[in-house]
Amino acid sequence: MSRDRIRQTARRIALLRDHFIHHDRFGPLEDRFLLLIEKRLADCEAGRTGEAHGIALSGLSGTGKTSAMDQMMARVCKWLNNSGHEDFSNVSIRVPSPATLKFVGQTLLRALGYQISSERQAWYIWDLVRHHLKERKILFVHLDEAQHLASRGTRHELNSVASMLKTLMTDPEWPVGIILSGTQELEDILNHDPQLARRMDTVHFESLSPVAHSNDVLDLVETYCCKAELEPGKDILELMHGERLIHAAANQFGLVIVLTLAAIEQAYLADAPLLTRAHFAKAYHLRTSCDDTFNPFIIPDFVRIDARQVFSREKR
Ligand SMILES: Nc1ncnc2c1ncn2[C@@H]1O[C@H](COP(=O)(O)OP(=O)(O)OP(=O)(O)O)[C@@H](O)[C@H]1O
Ligand SMILES: [Mg+2]
Repeated sequence: MSRDRIRQTARRIALLRDHFIHHDRFGPLEDRFLLLIEKRLADCEAGRTGEAHGIALSGLSGTGKTSAMDQMMARVCKWLNNSGHEDFSNVSIRVPSPATLKFVGQTLLRALGYQISSERQAWYIWDLVRHHLKERKILFVHLDEAQHLASRGTRHELNSVASMLKTLMTDPEWPVGIILSGTQELEDILNHDPQLARRMDTVHFESLSPVAHSNDVLDLVETYCCKAELEPGKDILELMHGERLIHAAANQFGLVIVLTLAAIEQAYLADAPLLTRAHFAKAYHLRTSCDDTFNPFIIPDFVRIDARQVFSREKR
């Protein structure tokens, strides 16, 4: 295969990857966030310092939480700038692991543009965080991979992280809203601390179901074909293909997109004018190294394959 084709494929796939799909769970999530932002702005304009509220977004891995949050944060940032609120902003971090109070504080401080020696104690770091949140008029702090806050730490550590989040939200001088996103274990944090939970709205990104969502998934594949300038082959327009794709993606919306892009990549590399089921089968094979008898795009009884168990073929 020519180097040129490989290079062109990589470029075209990168462009497709940049595209965000506005699925029907995104609008309601963004509306909820905009309402919280408007409430905070109204409080700021009136000089009120009521406590801030937040949102916790949970869902299985690959469902599309990070993509949705990144998109939402970028759109809100644009909106703040274009609506005369350019003084205000939000900040996002990915919660490090292990998520000790000190490590999380340092990561947040760095995202606020401030480096600090790791010798400093946690209380000092968080004092600085609060100072910078106020100075930079940060309305919301978004913590992605928030399940790390609940995973490895001891109960004592979880208590201190939860109370730090509460402290930020109820700061009498500059309350800051908290947005948490992560896998379902993040719900443990809220279950652990009712005071934190009552200040958070919860949103859950459900998994896809082959029965209910196959048609939507086929529409999605067609949208991608159109963007990719490929004709959809007959065999990927059948309802059964939607079911296969959902199953292969372990019922997760984001993974459906990942697999579709991987199939398009195979079509580009083969210089094919049509996107067909064989491209999906090849893409799945490359992802999992499974043979044909474990490939949901090949065998008829594909539901017996556990698509989450990528590397344990023998057990399937
Ligand atoms: N709305 C979307 N538009 C386009 N691509 C998307 C969208 N949602 C998800 N994806 C694709 O799916 C992939 C996985 O999604 P994402 O990383 O957002 O999942 P996640 O729920 O954060 O998973 P994890 O819990 O493992 O972090 C992304 O890298 C992206 O390629
Ligand atoms: Mg994520």
